[in-house]
Amino acid sequence: MARKTKKPKTIWQCTACGATTRGWFGQCPSCHEWNTIEEQVERPAAGERVVLATPGASSEGAVVPVTAAQEQLADAQRLSTGIAELDRVLGGGLVPGSLVLLGGAPGIGKSTLILQACAGLVGVNDDHAHERPVLYASGEESIAQVAGRAKRLRGGSFTAADERLLLLAETRIEAILDAATARKPKALVVDSIQTVYSDAQDGLPGNIGQIRSVTGHLLSWAKSRAIPVIIVGHVTKDGQLAGPRLLEHMVDTVLAFEGDEERATRMLRASKNRFGSTAELGVFEMTSQGLREIPNPSEVFLADHPEEAIGSAVTASLEGSRPLLLEIQALLGPSPGGSPRRTCVGADPSRLAMLLAVLDRHAGLFVVDQDVFVNVAGGLRLSEPAADLAALLAVASSHLRKPIPRGTIAIGEVGLTGELRRVPRMEERLAEARRLGFRRAIVPSKSVPAGSPQEGLAIVGVDSVAQAVERAF
Ligand code: TYD
Ligand code: MG
Repeated sequence: MARKTKKPKTIWQCTACGATTRGWFGQCPSCHEWNTIEEQVERPAAGERVVLATPGASSEGAVVPVTAAQEQLADAQRLSTGIAELDRVLGGGLVPGSLVLLGGAPGIGKSTLILQACAGLVGVNDDHAHERPVLYASGEESIAQVAGRAKRLRGGSFTAADERLLLLAETRIEAILDAATARKPKALVVDSIQTVYSDAQDGLPGNIGQIRSVTGHLLSWAKSRAIPVIIVGHVTKDGQLAGPRLLEHMVDTVLAFEGDEERATRMLRASKNRFGSTAELGVFEMTSQGLREIPNPSEVFLADHPEEAIGSAVTASLEGSRPLLLEIQALLGPSPGGSPRRTCVGADPSRLAMLLAVLDRHAGLFVVDQDVFVNVAGGLRLSEPAADLAALLAVASSHLRKPIPRGTIAIGEVGLTGELRRVPRMEERLAEARRLGFRRAIVPSKSVPAGSPQEGLAIVGVDSVAQAVERAF
């Protein structure tokens, strides 16, 4: 098709949020980031328009609506990656035609996780994708590097299923998609989005136009063939996905792979999931044989928990479908400056300020003039108000210089009037505490489970913060 070549139009666009502006601005008027407005060449590339083909729809442009019942996604169609922790965070496996973005800092283990998932995918002989290969396109490592790692992850020798793991060292998206189209894989992996570019777009790989164009290609390819695509993306030091926000808008699922440098523990969460909950947490350990799943994370997070220490309290937090025991530590000290500091790792400082005010007013512990440090052990984050009571008791313990007796767990939400509020799914939390050998649980009276008592676990129901402090020590 002959098209008149027009002078390419240039636009000004924010690399952080994708908003277009009328010219150069120091600060993006839309997302208020500084120095993110860049000039882009806008070229209406054919491959950039995303066509969501619906089976049965006419190709002439006439659209055929379907009823919702016709378009039900059977859970049975999901593909298992063979990694239970990953499947759970995805919402039960990979959905055909979905676009999944796996983000994480360089070196955290993204390629390792995906390579292990590929092994699972090729190893599972399901009805929908029997004997189909998985295509792993790497723009970062050579085939020899990827193959060497795959072999090491399998314990030194390939399996018969590995015949179906196809590797490609390529960074041109058109070439990757041609290869993928020819092989009809079960799943396609692109590692990483920042290294891949499209011929139809100007600019270096990793710039906003390229990322949008490449993701657009992958999106239309995935949707029209009902094949899942996993995209790996690097995040910058402050945890933002390097590249534009619009990448997160375009994909169906955004997974974040996190962990700290000192530990081998890695956590996988979904920050967006069109096909499942975003509350699930997957826990892994990085070993010399790759990532190992941790099905009982409480044991790992409590591994360093001292039996009886001043300023330490344990709670049970719900992470998606399962309860997780975690330790909260607090340290109080005199504040030299007169404006006391609140330093939180894994906890919300404004929630802490509220708890300190409640302790002061309703439990008679004058802590508001102290410097307070709160840390959630193991690199976890408190995500629920149910952790309030344990955080409050950890602070009280440090203030009173008394440890909470061994084997005690505290679960409850604290209200501004010093009352303890009901928390959901108490029985599951108590069962997890009992499984790990806890013998006493301090919980709101309203949440004491009726009926079957937890054998070996004494339940102490309390109504107020003052009562909780009194009973805990
Ligand atoms: P990698 O998956 O390459 O990280 P990413 O793709 O997120 O950049 O993992 C890199 C790190 O993981 C590397 O520092 C070595 C470590 N590692 C292990 O400890 N054990 C293993 O079996 C593998 C494959 C990697
Ligand atoms: Mg990598």
